Amino acid sequence: MNQSENVGRLWIGLTDGSPNRFLTGVFLLVGIICGSSVYGQEAAEPAAPGSVVAELQQEIDKVRPAVQGPWTKLWMDEVGRLGKVEPRKINIGDREILVDESLFYSGRYGSPLAYSRAFDLAEKHGFAPSKGAKIFDFGYGSIGHLRMLAQMGLNATGVDVEPLLPVMYDGCSGPLGEGSVQLLHGRYPADEKLIEAAGDGYDLFLSKNTLKRGYIHPSREPVSPRHIIQLGVKDEAFLERVTSMLKPGGLFVIYNFCPPKAAMDKPYIPWAEGECPFPVEAFERAGFEVVEYDVVDDKEARDLGHRLGWDAPGGMKLETDLFAWYTIARKK
Ligand SMILES: C[S@@+](CC[C@H](N)C(=O)[O-])C[C@H]1O[C@@H](n2cnc3c(N)ncnc32)[C@H](O)[C@@H]1O
Repeated sequence: MNQSENVGRLWIGLTDGSPNRFLTGVFLLVGIICGSSVYGQEAAEPAAPGSVVAELQQEIDKVRPAVQGPWTKLWMDEVGRLGKVEPRKINIGDREILVDESLFYSGRYGSPLAYSRAFDLAEKHGFAPSKGAKIFDFGYGSIGHLRMLAQMGLNATGVDVEPLLPVMYDGCSGPLGEGSVQLLHGRYPADEKLIEAAGDGYDLFLSKNTLKRGYIHPSREPVSPRHIIQLGVKDEAFLERVTSMLKPGGLFVIYNFCPPKAAMDKPYIPWAEGECPFPVEAFERAGFEVVEYDVVDDKEARDLGHRLGWDAPGGMKLETDLFAWYTIARKK
């Protein structure tokens, strides 16, 4: 087995038959297989409606001491107000997938509270949204964190290319609480229809674990072309679109959790290269002021990982297995 497979097996294997559904947090480190993630890693028994939300609620008190921002703390409290989900089966191509409350809220990427660090950093840099504010999540992966925003009266839009999502979340776009969730599927901003649907006037453009250098501009040949994220447009056009969809002063936050990088004599792991895919000058040319660039956030990421139980028995050794970077830019 090569190192890449080892890494994949290590992380994926942690979820197999695990009694702890939240070890699925390890998926945040698994290399995505763009547009066709691995299905069927969920526990054999579907989660009872309400049980996953009850477990997520217990995470709030563990994570809260690691969070500074009052708005981020209020957002975290919303996890306990997520609605119950009845298990059901859906078909993706010729595959039948069991969708339970765990898959519905956490997808394959773990607790929605893993977004708390990215929101906290945005808040540190002035993100303090009031009702009606708009947030865009590039590569949203799952709906839990977006619904939590909507419950607070915000309008949350997520875009993704994963074919499971439009089926699993069919009928989930629309008003929720005093806010809304809008789920877009396809390649943004390459697809003009998605640009129109997304609109503009956003306060925050967020990418967690999606805009990684290793996915966009890998430094080595990826093992599979499916390990690459195709933006569908040149970097300049992508960044200009992000600028034009943000309000003046709006923030662009890129936050990436990563496993360790592979040694040069081992197969390349694109998802381990979590630095920003765009140089500072490219942000500036597109009309951004770069506030923080490629800041190493390993200590804080490991603290959050510990609070979320990623180092539970059979899980990660956080000091050697978890790394993180973030970049924050502000539209001038
Ligand atoms: C590692 S997951 C992260 C999911 C979520 N942001 C999180 O942190 O839990 C990366 C996501 O990016 C999505 N993705 C891949 N290519 C994309 C593209 N061109 N546009 C939007 N999303 C994309 C994948 O389908 C996947 O859901």
